Amino acid sequence: MYLAVKFILLLTTTAMPIIAPSFLACDFLKLGQECQMVNESEAEWLHLDVMDGRFVPNISFGIPVIQQIRKATRKICDVHLMIVEPEKYTEAFKKAGADVLSVHIEACPHLHRNIQQIKSLDMKAGVAVNPHTPVELLKDILPDIDIVNLMSVNPGFGGQQFIAHTLHKIRELRKMIDEQGLSVKIEIDGGVTLENASSILKAGADILVVGSTVFGSDDPKAVISQLKHLAY
Ligand code: DX5
Ligand code: ZN
Repeated sequence: MYLAVKFILLLTTTAMPIIAPSFLACDFLKLGQECQMVNESEAEWLHLDVMDGRFVPNISFGIPVIQQIRKATRKICDVHLMIVEPEKYTEAFKKAGADVLSVHIEACPHLHRNIQQIKSLDMKAGVAVNPHTPVELLKDILPDIDIVNLMSVNPGFGGQQFIAHTLHKIRELRKMIDEQGLSVKIEIDGGVTLENASSILKAGADILVVGSTVFGSDDPKAVISQLKHLAY
């Protein structure tokens, strides 16, 4: 009987995802309290979206805001750069407190050089890809990176709807990573909800970026906990 229960548990137990609340959706008048909420939650990462009005049609926040957030938390600061020429600011983001720095493949003609620069500054390196970019393009950079940020909406805005085709891309990327025997993490960014999170995790994602679903809720900590413990 005990063995049977243990066997069923083995079959159903899956790794828990990393939850990364995206501060783009937070109340900026209450930045300290929002950090406090994440500190008290089961989220391990904070996702910080930097936009330049050039790579994406929107401007968000930058280095001084990240410096303040860094002072208010010891959780992993995951900085997603939606900017052109990220190499000009890599060092400044390190100094501001970034632990993970992701740059867009579409913004970097010399992506390998960008990745080396990020790693030389002792940060984890991520590559973000837009919804139209095939994951095959990551094949030769995968061994050099720590994270792929697979965009499941067009970058630039929070609160958009998850693009369903992303599920195929997650499966394909998972296969590429496993076939190469790598430990690159797959982060899904955009339109993640309590309804679609299980299918995203089942497809092979490791990290869920969640903006409006967390900060738009009356009980953000409970939503984070629900996402963390989802069955899939
Ligand atoms: C979009 C950003 C996302 C965004 C996600 O450009 O990269 O991180 O904040 O927000 P939601 O979860 O609301 O789609
Ligand atoms: Zn993002």
